[in-house]
Amino acid sequence: MNPLSKETRILQSLLEKPREFVAGSVLAKELDITRVAIWTYMEKLRKEGFLFDAIRNRGYRLRKLPTQLSTAYLHAKLPQLAQKGGLHILDEVDSTNSEAERLIAQGVATPLVVLARRQTKGRGRLGRLWESGSEENFYGSFAFRPGLAPIRMQPFTLWMGLTVCRFLEEIGNLKPRLKWPNDIMFEGKKAGGILTEARVDSDVMRDLVLGLGLNVSHTPVLPNVDPYHYAPVSLAAVSGREISLNSFAVALIETLLEAYRVFHEDRFKEPFQRLWQRYDMLAGQMVEARSGSGKVFGRVKGLRPDGALLIEESGGKERALVSGEVSLTPS
Ligand code: BTN
Repeated sequence: MNPLSKETRILQSLLEKPREFVAGSVLAKELDITRVAIWTYMEKLRKEGFLFDAIRNRGYRLRKLPTQLSTAYLHAKLPQLAQKGGLHILDEVDSTNSEAERLIAQGVATPLVVLARRQTKGRGRLGRLWESGSEENFYGSFAFRPGLAPIRMQPFTLWMGLTVCRFLEEIGNLKPRLKWPNDIMFEGKKAGGILTEARVDSDVMRDLVLGLGLNVSHTPVLPNVDPYHYAPVSLAAVSGREISLNSFAVALIETLLEAYRVFHEDRFKEPFQRLWQRYDMLAGQMVEARSGSGKVFGRVKGLRPDGALLIEESGGKERALVSGEVSLTPS
């Protein structure tokens, strides 16, 4: 077990009593350090962007969280994961998916969560770049060792995408849609995407990394590359309110780790159907799709149990798309 840092333990004490002042002497006793040392750690937290109310003889109260990801805060809210070494928060990395893969190769325990404030080589699907220069957005990877047959894992990315949609709807004022297979959409604009990468060994999925990028408060400026390109948008812009990245990240991590457990224990099928009905963006729509085997035009008929998208071509022939990407066409 990794010990929690002093800053994390101070935050835990303040977060336990969010409306009250906690005396410096109480904190000092809890952590078994001097009041001067407490003051020094408070200064460090202030430099990270925390705001505190501090009143002589009464103590400290937490007023505001930093705008960028805070390691101390995430560890304070997710102590079990942090103590097991499963929570890595980096200032800058090439790609959180690559970092998660490196950690997995070193034998680090799973579930493993890697977050970064910035990525220098954020990867999107189909070899695209994921713009990752804003500290106001979420770049995270979730790594697991499922030990299941690859066929059993097929609906996993869709399930996690639907879970992200449910999470975004529940945090308020947001009406997300999932565009098969992995795009998080709002009124035809893209706010996030998922990139799943896996290693299969003799018919068992050994490890799997699910990377999630979400434009939380910053809308990236992207070149309009092709007809499959959807304009980006941020969650703050669609909800019309400020979103605290730190609280958002904690709730999202808890939700996705629970969704993995539900999937792994094979309890996802009934909620999957319900969430698919609610969030599927393509139901009954005319689409153009492209995959390794070429282009398909037609009307979306639904989803096969393995997660393949069913498209009916104009001649009535049904095609199943296992991977690829889709764009709406005028009906
Ligand atoms: C897509 O829509 O093409 C998928 C985008 C996935 C981006 C995320 S950001 C965190 C993780 N690290 C990466 O390099 N990519 C994923």
